[in-house]
This record gives sequence, C-alpha cells and structure tokens, in this order.
Amino acid sequence: MIVAIKRIVQTDKSSLRAWRNDPAVSKWMYTNHEISEAEHNSWFDNMITDDSKVYWKIVADDVAVGAVFLTGIAPDADACDWGMYLADVDVRGKGVAQAACALSFHYAFIELGVSAVRCEAVAHNETAIGLYESVGYVRTGLKEGAVLRGNEMLSVVTLELARDAWNSHEEYVLQRLSEKGVNIHG
Ligand SMILES: CC(C)(COP(=O)(O)OP(=O)(O)OC[C@H]1O[C@@H](n2cnc3c(N)ncnc32)[C@H](O)[C@@H]1OP(=O)(O)O)[C@@H](O)C(=O)NCCC(=O)NCCS
Repeated sequence: MIVAIKRIVQTDKSSLRAWRNDPAVSKWMYTNHEISEAEHNSWFDNMITDDSKVYWKIVADDVAVGAVFLTGIAPDADACDWGMYLADVDVRGKGVAQAACALSFHYAFIELGVSAVRCEAVAHNETAIGLYESVGYVRTGLKEGAVLRGNEMLSVVTLELARDAWNSHEEYVLQRLSEKGVNIHG
C-alpha cells in the first residue's frame, strides 16, 4: 500500500464534513454533534486561508481516507498542535495512520522547523494513545473531566513529541511500516 498526504483543497470540503460527522470519528472528538453544512463551510473557509493551520488528506492507494493536521502554527512558536483521524474504518490497523504520522512529522520538524508537536486524546481512546506512543509521543498530563459527553465528563491525556524523540523513533516506525507493506510518499 502507498500512503501519501496531500494538502486539503476546496474540492475536499464535503468529504471533510462527512468524515468529521461519521460517528466512528466524532465519538473521539471533543464535540460530537452533527455539524451542519453552514457550520462546516464557515469553519472550512476560515481554515483554508489561515496560515496557522495546515490540513492534509491522508491518501491510501489513491483513495482519501482521513485527515492529518497541524494547528497553532506561529512564526515565533517553537511548537504546534497536531491531530489526525482515519474516516474509513476498513483501513484502520494497517499502518496508514503511522505512515501519515511520519509524513506530517517530516513537514513539522524539517519544513516548519518546530522543536515539538503536541496532541490530546480522550483518555479511553487506547488505539490513538497506543499509536501516538508507538511513534514517540510521551504523556505530559491528564485533564480530568475536560470534555462533557452526554451526562459524562471525559478525561483527556495530553502528549508531546519532541523532534529528538521522533529522530530516535523514525527508523523503528519505518521498519514497522515496511513489515506491514506500507510505502510512504511525501
Ligand atoms: C487513532 C487512529 C488514527 C489509529 O489508526 P490505525 O489505523 O489503527 O493506526 P495504525 O495501524 O497506523 O497504527 C498502528 C499502531 O497503533 C498502535 N495501536 C493500534 N491499535 C492499538 C490498540 N488497540 N491499543 C494500543 N495501541 C494500538 C500500535 O502501536 C500500532 O503499531 P504496531 O502495529 O507497530 O504496534 C484510528 O483508529 C482513528 O482514526 N480513530 C478514530 C479517530 C480518532 O480516534 N482520532 C484520534 C483522536 S485523538
């Protein structure tokens, strides 16, 4: 399988809304209401012209299957925020997300030149946290009861990946991808 990341463009607008509204994705987000077309369009039009954000679609064998993104980018900031999801559940568990990590980290650490990326995950999202730790992220904190979901307050784990940690994990990740038959394409 070949995995690439490609910058989100106007023609990706409706896919992005469909992915984000898919319950298999939205259940892990901080808000899980159905995002209306108007709400999405307003967010999308801001996002695409906002220099502090970079959104890519994750493309597996020429099919767009999810998104990976950097936010909070600033000229004087040494770190930014990072996140991802795979909307197509059939491609999960095959290394596609790990490949998208490698590609987006290359952009963050080499092209953007930040020293660290940060992310957060709902504390019981073991798959996401397992993935993040597999690429070198370390836990930096726990925000107890940070997200209201129905009647429940969910805790959130905060994580950080320093450039040095990625440098020492990259070879292992590329080896795992090769064992899974995943090739990456910048
Ligand atoms: C989180 C998500 C991106 C992971 O995608 P994926 O396709 O399973 O990930 P990959 O196959 O590329 O990564 C595999 C790595 O993740 C880890 N992992 C996968 N499933 C795991 C699990 N159940 N528990 C712990 N670690 C797990 C392993 O380290 C694995 O690497 P290894 O096989 O080399 O050991 C995907 O499940 C998803 O999009 N979920 C819904 C949205 C979401 O949760 N987004 C993140 C919000 S914070």
